[in-house]
Amino acid sequence: MPTRVDVGRINRRSFMKVAAASAGTLVVGGSTVFPVSQALAGKPGATTTRNPLYVPPTVSPSGLTVREAPATVSLGGGRSSSVWAYNGSLPGPTIRASRGATAQVQLVNGLSQDTITHWHGMIVDHPNDGHPRQAIPPGGTYSYNFPINQRAAMNWYHPHPHMLTGEQVAMGLAGAFIVTDTIEDALGLPSGAYEIPLVVRDAAFDLAGNMLYKPRTGGFLGDTPLVNGTLNPKLDVDTARYRFRVLNGANSRIFALALGNGAPFTLIGNDGGLLETSVPVLQVDMANGERVDLIVDFRGMAVGSRVMLRDLRSGWDLLEFVVTRSVNDTSTTPTALSTISRLSGPVRTRDFSFDGMSKINGRLYDINRMDFQVPFGQTELWRFSTSGNAPHPVHVHGASFQVQSRRGGRGKLFPWEQGWKDTVLLEDRETVEVLVRFDAFRGVYLIHCHKLEHEDMGMMANFEVV
Ligand code: C2O
Ligand code: CU
Ligand code: CU
Repeated sequence: MPTRVDVGRINRRSFMKVAAASAGTLVVGGSTVFPVSQALAGKPGATTTRNPLYVPPTVSPSGLTVREAPATVSLGGGRSSSVWAYNGSLPGPTIRASRGATAQVQLVNGLSQDTITHWHGMIVDHPNDGHPRQAIPPGGTYSYNFPINQRAAMNWYHPHPHMLTGEQVAMGLAGAFIVTDTIEDALGLPSGAYEIPLVVRDAAFDLAGNMLYKPRTGGFLGDTPLVNGTLNPKLDVDTARYRFRVLNGANSRIFALALGNGAPFTLIGNDGGLLETSVPVLQVDMANGERVDLIVDFRGMAVGSRVMLRDLRSGWDLLEFVVTRSVNDTSTTPTALSTISRLSGPVRTRDFSFDGMSKINGRLYDINRMDFQVPFGQTELWRFSTSGNAPHPVHVHGASFQVQSRRGGRGKLFPWEQGWKDTVLLEDRETVEVLVRFDAFRGVYLIHCHKLEHEDMGMMANFEVV
């Protein structure tokens, strides 16, 4: 179903309504006000010119050098922008490795402030985790060396220096880190050109079109969506099934993904890799740091048709799929995808209250303080609640967890919260319980709110697996 507005066939009034709904414009007292970014995104009232989606290069983590530095990147449509990027790419190169491989990565700090890179979702020991204590100064380097020994999943990497994470991520520093394994390979999921990571975020720009970070205690909100660093992106697709591996890489914006033609996604995975079984969903809510693995089926669609990936919360068009080539794809998504062993029988319960915009259990983060200790290999029930200023996407380093329940607020769990997770959304008035067991490494890890402004203001705690 075409989602592009055909101005010739509808009257101006309904056009304005549709344009407002689809482009995120504001309708005030009957006249349409276009935010600054609209000028960047395309002329008001004109059909939006869509730019080919950028897909970052894929690299191996063995012998990789990543440099965080200012760069000028193309956002599409002839627009270039000064940003901060990993190896000059926004998002950074997609790191891809199979389970059993070793990551040997040299980080180079080409910024004018401290930084360190964290591998979000990767189960690594403390020296490789990118804890803020490991931050390096401008011009410094840090050597990572770790075995990759975990389920296939799309993880990601981003800076994690104390109080500077929000700025560095908003300026462009983030990339995908895909782990593959033989179990997943055997499923025959769409691959090659049919497997595409999508890093979805919002951004703000100054009048010259350069990336701008405006911290806000309630969380940075940009006025322009970017998918893989592309403004108004489109992707030419075949009449085939595609695997889109989506990361919410925004500092604080939550997305509600849906297809403009009302077709379902087939949800196959999340933060911790494949679910046990695939499930059709019409909408996926994604908080900061969360990932979903989606199959989208373009078979049976006519060449020339268009489908929009939309964000139902902001009303934004995120990415337009344009069916351009007919192929014969007879593959199927298996219903049974993976085996997930359930954590059970927690030995103890810990309560974490996410207070205001900057505290956990009443305390601001102190980089030198050890907030608590967790015995190695012990299953625990962690209970997250909030005293206000939610949403708080709660993220834990050092292990994945399994979400057990949500009381209050939305009052239920969602299909993308099954299996293994490392980030879970805590909305206002909600209490979320997870089971977690740290059975990979002893050492110092973090729990924090992944709304990066909350994290930077202190909504973070150190703990030690002993
Ligand atoms: Cu994605 Cu501690 O972070
Ligand atoms: Cu992390
Ligand atoms: Cu928060």
